[in-house]
Amino acid sequence: AAARFVLDPDFTVGPVDPRLFGSFVEHLGRCVYTGIYEPGHPSADDRGLRTDVLELIRELGVTAIRYPGGNFVSGYRWEDGVGPKDKRPRRLDLAWRSTESNQFGLAEFMDFLRKVGGEPMMAVNLGTRGVEDAVRLLEYANHPGGTELSDLRAAHGDRDPYGVRLWCLGNEMDGFWQIGHKSAEEYGALATATARAMRMIDPGLELVACGSSGQSMPTFAAWESTVLQHCYEEVDHISMHAYYEELDGDRDSFLASAVDTESFIENVVATCDHVGARLKSKKRINISFDEWNVWYMNNPESSVMVPPEDWAEAPRLLEDNYSVTDAVVFGSLLIALLRHADRVKVACLAQLVNVIAPILTEPGGPAWRQTTFFPFAQASRYGRGTVLDVRPESPLYRTGKYGEVPLLHATAVRDEDSGAVTVFAVNRGQHQPLPLEVTLRGLGLGEVVEHSVLADADPEARNTLREPERVRPHAAAPGTVLTGGVLRATLEPLSWNVIRLR
Ligand code: AHR
Repeated sequence: AAARFVLDPDFTVGPVDPRLFGSFVEHLGRCVYTGIYEPGHPSADDRGLRTDVLELIRELGVTAIRYPGGNFVSGYRWEDGVGPKDKRPRRLDLAWRSTESNQFGLAEFMDFLRKVGGEPMMAVNLGTRGVEDAVRLLEYANHPGGTELSDLRAAHGDRDPYGVRLWCLGNEMDGFWQIGHKSAEEYGALATATARAMRMIDPGLELVACGSSGQSMPTFAAWESTVLQHCYEEVDHISMHAYYEELDGDRDSFLASAVDTESFIENVVATCDHVGARLKSKKRINISFDEWNVWYMNNPESSVMVPPEDWAEAPRLLEDNYSVTDAVVFGSLLIALLRHADRVKVACLAQLVNVIAPILTEPGGPAWRQTTFFPFAQASRYGRGTVLDVRPESPLYRTGKYGEVPLLHATAVRDEDSGAVTVFAVNRGQHQPLPLEVTLRGLGLGEVVEHSVLADADPEARNTLREPERVRPHAAAPGTVLTGGVLRATLEPLSWNVIRLR
């Protein structure tokens, strides 16, 4: 049987905030050092940034970039990373049991952002620090001049303020692993005090409070509710983090991971709105899904979490090498975010280079695209505009974790200027092609521009140092047609599809 849905411009989810295509740079493993920053690399520019990596990041199309952590930020002193490099201290990074050289810091990050065209999303340390350091960092970063810290920034070489608008109030403070982990009451009070002080400098900031580190946290939902009870009027977004992996060989459930993502989003939205109702507030809290990805965190062979050597500098950590299957699940996670674009205003693919990342590098060697690079680049390029309300009717398949799940996962985005529509669709079925029929109403579309597919006879295929271009999207077999207002296509088994119509 075919999967079907209707597209109609009168039925929409909402506009896509470009920051839905954000990413994340943490001082973790080789994300910064030998990832984006490697003075001495043949491609390095005069400030030590790898231009081969910059080029790939531009192609990926990332928008907001979160920095400097992650778990790292909860022990970080931002002052260590500014000023003359030879005066910067080497310190223990407790979060990742590594040594931090501080050769890359705020100014280097801002230079990097200018070169890739991204917007900063800075996290403040609410683990070992608090209100005072957050406002000092804000003054250093954003105040035009005439104070000790803003003049210090100028003396360090950046006369113009950085104008950072989007700030995370700590990271995963609900997690027992977090340095300075807190109860919801403690964190709610600290986030409120920090937000108030930061807004005294600039009321126009956009602030993100920490939500749960995952839907399976024992404190999930109660955490959000208590935290927001404290800081509802002071913040704009609540964060969500989610990672998925195939466990115990249960690929069918892994392919349905986005069922969890969508229920997680809907549960957080319900919790936010419940608190808003209790507070009789007219304000709506949105979502910053500031960490999401496939991550084999329970597989030490694929994802080394503790450096083999104590306190190593830039050790190889979390360097997952993604398969075609992973990329299909990854694409489905992107679809889940787009399907909730009315409330998800920021999302960050965790992370950007080497660490659970779409781009891999070798020190002194090449940089290349992982399988997950392609769905992200395509969604960022063609997923701008308004999300149409897609309600598929689809054949189901059985999963161990989520019960019966539709084989089709899909969304569609309309470019308001040109009227062009792009359908993003995943066939979760491992063995059968899935016929798709989309009825187009009132969209004035006449032809299929492209049907691009990411799928492979070997679902385990990956891009590696030896074979960096093994996996790429390909054109679908002929047969994707738009006639009489109906789009017909066949989705290959276990595939990510981008169908562009105009
Ligand atoms: O992205 C890797 C880690 O995952 C981050 O440091 C942390 O916030 C999360 O647990």
